[in-house]
Order: sequence, then C-alpha cells, then structure tokens
Amino acid sequence: MTAHIGVGMLGMGTVGSAIAARLLSEWQLLGERSGAVPVLRHVAVRDVQRQRDVTLPETVRLGDDPFAVVDDPAVRVVVEVMGGLQPATECIERALSEGKHVVTANKAVIATHGPRLARLAAAHGAGLWFEASAGAGLPIIALLRDSLLGDRITSLDAVINTTTNVILTHMRRDGVRLADALVDAQRRGFAEADPSSDVDGWDAAYKLVVMSWLAFGVHVPPEDVDRQGIGDVKLDDIGYAGRLDCSVRLLAHAARSDAGVVLSVQPTLVAQSHPLYDIDDSDNAVLIRSDFASSVLVRGRGGGGAPTASAVVSDVVRAARGDIPVYPATDGPARLAGEENDEICGYVRMMLADVDDARGLVLQAFEDRGVPVEDSRDAPSPQHGAQLVVLTGAAPRAVHSRALETVETLAAVRGIAASLDRVC
Ligand SMILES: NC(=O)c1ccc[n+]([C@@H]2O[C@H](COP(=O)([O-])OP(=O)(O)OC[C@H]3O[C@@H](n4cnc5c(N)ncnc54)[C@H](OP(=O)(O)O)[C@@H]3O)[C@@H](O)[C@H]2O)c1
Repeated sequence: MTAHIGVGMLGMGTVGSAIAARLLSEWQLLGERSGAVPVLRHVAVRDVQRQRDVTLPETVRLGDDPFAVVDDPAVRVVVEVMGGLQPATECIERALSEGKHVVTANKAVIATHGPRLARLAAAHGAGLWFEASAGAGLPIIALLRDSLLGDRITSLDAVINTTTNVILTHMRRDGVRLADALVDAQRRGFAEADPSSDVDGWDAAYKLVVMSWLAFGVHVPPEDVDRQGIGDVKLDDIGYAGRLDCSVRLLAHAARSDAGVVLSVQPTLVAQSHPLYDIDDSDNAVLIRSDFASSVLVRGRGGGGAPTASAVVSDVVRAARGDIPVYPATDGPARLAGEENDEICGYVRMMLADVDDARGLVLQAFEDRGVPVEDSRDAPSPQHGAQLVVLTGAAPRAVHSRALETVETLAAVRGIAASLDRVC
C-alpha cells in the first residue's frame, strides 16, 4: 500500500492556487519521488466564499482559521503561503512546536525570524523549508544551504526583485518615466496596488538577509541593510547609463571581509561585461563568488504563481521524504563592516555653473578627497544646461559620500542631479 502524508495550506492566493493544483494533479509523480504521496487535507483562506481558480475535492477541508489547519491531526506538513508577519509567524511557531514540517514562501518571516525558527524546528525534530522565500523559481536556497558546503562564500550579487526589474527594463527599452512604467507593471500583474515594499527595496532586502544567513552564517536584521529603492531613478540616468554601455539594476549586494559583513540594496550601474547586465524583465539572478568554486551564476523566474509554487512543491517533496535541512547557527547580531569598509564605485551627474574650468575643479575635488576618477563626460541637456557625468573608481562608501558633500559646495556646481553605485 502506498504511504500518504497530509498537507495543510495556509492561504490559497496566487502561489497557493498553483501549489494546490500541482498537488492535486501530480500526486503520483510527487509520491514516487518522496516515497509518500503528499495529500492535501485542509486549507485556510480569509474569504471561504470567494470563487477560486482551483476546485478542491470534498475530501479537503476549507476554512478561515489558519490555526485549525496547523492543529489538524491529519496535517503533517504545513505550507504557509499567506504572507505578512502575523499570524504567519505564530502559525509557523506552533506547527514546528508540534513537530510538524513547515514549508513557507514568506521572505519577511524568514528574514526577521529565520535563525530562531530553525532552532525551534531542530529542537522538535521538524523541518523548516523556505526555497521560495528568495528568488522563487531559482533554486538559490538549496544551492547556498547544501551545494557549497566546502566553500567560503565571499560575496553575493543579485537581481532579486521582479517588480523593479520589470520597471527598469521598460524604462530603458521604451524610454518611459518611472511613474508610467510602474502603472504598466501594475496592469501586467508585476506590481501590487501598494508597490512600496518592492519599489523601496524592502523585498530585495528581506531576500538578501535570507541569502546572507546561509552564505555567511550571520543574521542581519532587515532594517540594518543599507537600502535605497528605485523611486529617485531618473530616465535621464538610464539613458546616460546606456551610452556608457551599462544597465541600471536594483542590485542586492552582500560581502564578507575581516571587518564584518556589508549588505546593501542600491540602484546600480552594471556594465555590459558583467553577468548581471542582461537579466531583464521578470528574470532574477544571483552571482555567488567563493574561494573554491570561484563563481556560480543562477538565473530564472523570480516570481509568479507557477515558478514560486515549483519551489514550494519541491520543498514539500523533501519534507514528505523525511529530509531535515540544516542551517548555519548564528551567535548574536552580525558584525557590520560599516561604510568605511564598503568599497564602491560611483556614477555622479551634476549641473555645472558658468565658471571657468568647472569640470577641472570638480575632478580635482574628487581626487583631493581620495576618490579616483575613471571617466568624465559632458552631458549638456536642454532642461538642465551644462552637466557633467563622472565615473568614480573604487573608494570606501564613506569617503565617496564625503567627496560628494565637498563637490556639492563648489561654486562650479549648481547641484548633484544623481548619484548611483556602479559595479566595478
Ligand atoms: N506572488 C509571487 O510571485 C510570490 C513570489 C515569491 C514569494 N511569494 C510569497 O508567497 C506568499 C503568498 O503570496 P501570494 O502572491 O500568493 O499572496 P496572495 O495572492 O495575496 O494570497 C494570500 C492568501 O492567503 C490568504 N490569507 C491571508 N491572510 C490570511 C489569514 N489571516 N487567514 C487565512 N488566510 C489568509 C488569502 O485569503 P483570500 O484568498 O481569502 O484573500 C489568500 O488566499 C507571500 O509570503 C509572498 O511574499 C509570492
């Protein structure tokens, strides 16, 4: 007789519907792979009356209480796809405390409470799985957790937020302003009605925190990520970046050095020679650099019902098989390297005053303040008059910021129009 394992789902929206459909249609294949057929037993949603894309068989209980799913004795694997910190966190804690396996796609919960939940799971012999919490369809969590255990990872660079990538790609290809690209992304289902978590960089910061935990064995609270969203990215700068053979990405970057760890999410110029240059539209990618494997690039669909459900169902199969994942232990808050130890290159666009040799004065000021200049271009515009674009070379972020403060005070400069990071 074939073994079965009961699955309960908290939420059946975009991702949950795709998971339920897969569990119901591919039960035989999933059972062969796990040795126990994952059988959907109980689902909780907010509104039980709402019409759904998936028709549940009568054997599946449908209710509006997520805790009833967690406590259902027929449920051994709890799949959390509700989103939000609460009641999701409490449900996960309760399930793990009851020794049930938990699969979640919730980046906010794992970024905020991941190491603590992993300890809770270990204490109760349960498995905590969260492949879908970062990168959805690309298997970055398993890669970081299991495939590079002999390596010391030195850095992660990721295009990990689909909404902003769709917007920035549209701006570059079609010359539309950010506000219009955002409306279009909402119309196409790539941005939520309230897009702030994506546009302000929070979503990318959560995912970076999760990946950095596995890569470096540290836990950085999401609010400690050096985070800037794409809200101030101007079409002009996307155009100038294009002329410099660069694309602009919301880049999530993490690195480890003797000084500590750096985690940043910043709009960044990426040169054509870089592997993340052409990660367009809804593609996501993570570039891992390590001391042993050298560099690994993983690329795939970063969101959407089916790619995200693919990651969740894969975790359900592992849970049904009885696997228990192991995560790095963390001891206390991570040591942050700070801006004095975070080397960046920059792109600065400024409006020049009508002063003799304004360009020379600006370049000299950068050099005097310890920031090398790699390139500079006149970029006159009908709207802003004389403008200068400067590409700065590697310098600590703090040194770069101080140089910008100096440049801004020069009589030769009417104002800094844009300052973006640049991968160098
Ligand atoms: N969508 C993606 O592309 C994607 C990608 C990666 C990760 N994720 C993550 O996956 C999770 C789910 O995302 P989603 O896009 O599927 O969200 P969604 O479409 O908004 O679905 C959320 C589901 O949870 C239910 N729900 C919410 N609060 C509830 C509560 N208190 N009690 C009972 N049910 C509740 C909702 O019920 P109703 O249907 O009745 O409203 C809905 O079925 C989130 O953590 C998200 O960050 C999503």
